[in-house]
Amino acid sequence: MDDLDVRPLADSEHRRARSLFMRSLHRPDADDQWESVAGRYEPGRVLGAFDEGELAGTTISLASSIAVPGGAVLPSAAVTGVGVRADRTRRGALRSLMRRQLADVRERGEPLAMLHASEAVIYERFGYGVATRSRTVSLDRFRSVLRPEAPTGGRVRMVDAESAAKLLPEIYRRIGLCRTGMISRSDGWWTSWLAALRDNTVAAVHSDDDGVDDGFVLYEAKVNDHRFDDGVITLQVLDLHGAEPAAVAGLWGFLLGLDLSNRIVAINRPVDELLEWWLTDRRQCRVTSVGDDLWLRLVDVPAALSARTYGQADPVVLEVRDAFLPENSGQYRIAPGEVRLCGDRPQLSIGVDALASLYLGDVAVSDLVAAGRVAVHDPSAVAAADRLFATAETPWCGTSF
Ligand SMILES: CC(C)(COP(=O)(O)OP(=O)(O)OC[C@H]1O[C@@H](n2cnc3c(N)ncnc32)[C@H](O)[C@@H]1OP(=O)(O)O)[C@@H](O)C(=O)NCCC(=O)NCCS
Repeated sequence: MDDLDVRPLADSEHRRARSLFMRSLHRPDADDQWESVAGRYEPGRVLGAFDEGELAGTTISLASSIAVPGGAVLPSAAVTGVGVRADRTRRGALRSLMRRQLADVRERGEPLAMLHASEAVIYERFGYGVATRSRTVSLDRFRSVLRPEAPTGGRVRMVDAESAAKLLPEIYRRIGLCRTGMISRSDGWWTSWLAALRDNTVAAVHSDDDGVDDGFVLYEAKVNDHRFDDGVITLQVLDLHGAEPAAVAGLWGFLLGLDLSNRIVAINRPVDELLEWWLTDRRQCRVTSVGDDLWLRLVDVPAALSARTYGQADPVVLEVRDAFLPENSGQYRIAPGEVRLCGDRPQLSIGVDALASLYLGDVAVSDLVAAGRVAVHDPSAVAAADRLFATAETPWCGTSF
């Protein structure tokens, strides 16, 4: 199918693109919300696909960055606002938008693109792969008690919306992209995130023993029984970050101490969060789901592969196949401290989407071999590749966009 006509939208067209996107998600599109999300529509980064002269689909990308193994922080386009008019789907609008967007990302010198997918079957064909996972946990508040050994210290205070708008971005910046997979949050991101919160959303800040703010939580209560006699208040934790385990544990301790609630549900948490280890009864931390979180696209494969670090192991020649951006295809010799294109016979072959899953260290090469996602030409390379790509920590993004 021929690509549709795709072009960057003028500022005056951004509002229409937003409407189209919200409609594609079956969500309301209130005028009073536009002001708070307009900052996400960055000039030049808003694309429209036109079918017979009419806007049929759209996508935007936010200028962001992401921490990769070894601590380097790489520019990364945060792709969002993807929608195609329901009466124009399956005519290639998304494909055309993806083609143009990835070309733009590459031209801007951003080696990576990333997104959260509404459906898991859409983006692999464009070279995206699941790079981080997250979990939802549900705790019975009355039976969840922190152990005395859980790291504590400092104090937690509630802050009003105005203070939260100033403090939370500062604290997030201070925490820094200290973990592989964490991404930067722009001013536009914060404005739209905080504006989307409901009236009953509460912000609380943790400060350490020296009084330095080092963590925050945003939560809201779902109240089903206004007589308070049936224990049906659930607290939903929307965003919780801390610089140190003591800040995170301190915030959990605060949540567990909130009167009149009987359940705490926290979404988008790290799969390796230490919560179970902090509780006297670890079964009270019920993991209700683990799912794909951040999808990554290596847009400039040599630049991305060179930017991360590798474990000690013999070099491996990895063939990368990238049908959507064929300029990335080739044999890469990967060794600690050096990644280069080479003409050697490949020991392993991988699609660029599966490479994205390896890239931040969320899955082992041998697991992808077992899953049939890596082809093995030299079996001795599998263990070496496992050691090269292994990382000490599980990646976590922790930011919706
Ligand atoms: C998802 C969406 C953007 C796809 O747009 P589209 O213009 O229909 O996609 P295209 O016609 O370019 O399809 C490209 C390919 O993806 C496939 N595809 C697209 N959407 C798909 C879906 N939801 N499920 C399965 N396959 C899908 C197409 O079949 C086609 O496959 P092919 O490469 O084998 O030909 C559109 O369906 C939509 O707006 N959905 C609702 C909003 C949404 O989910 N947005 C994404 C937010 S992350």
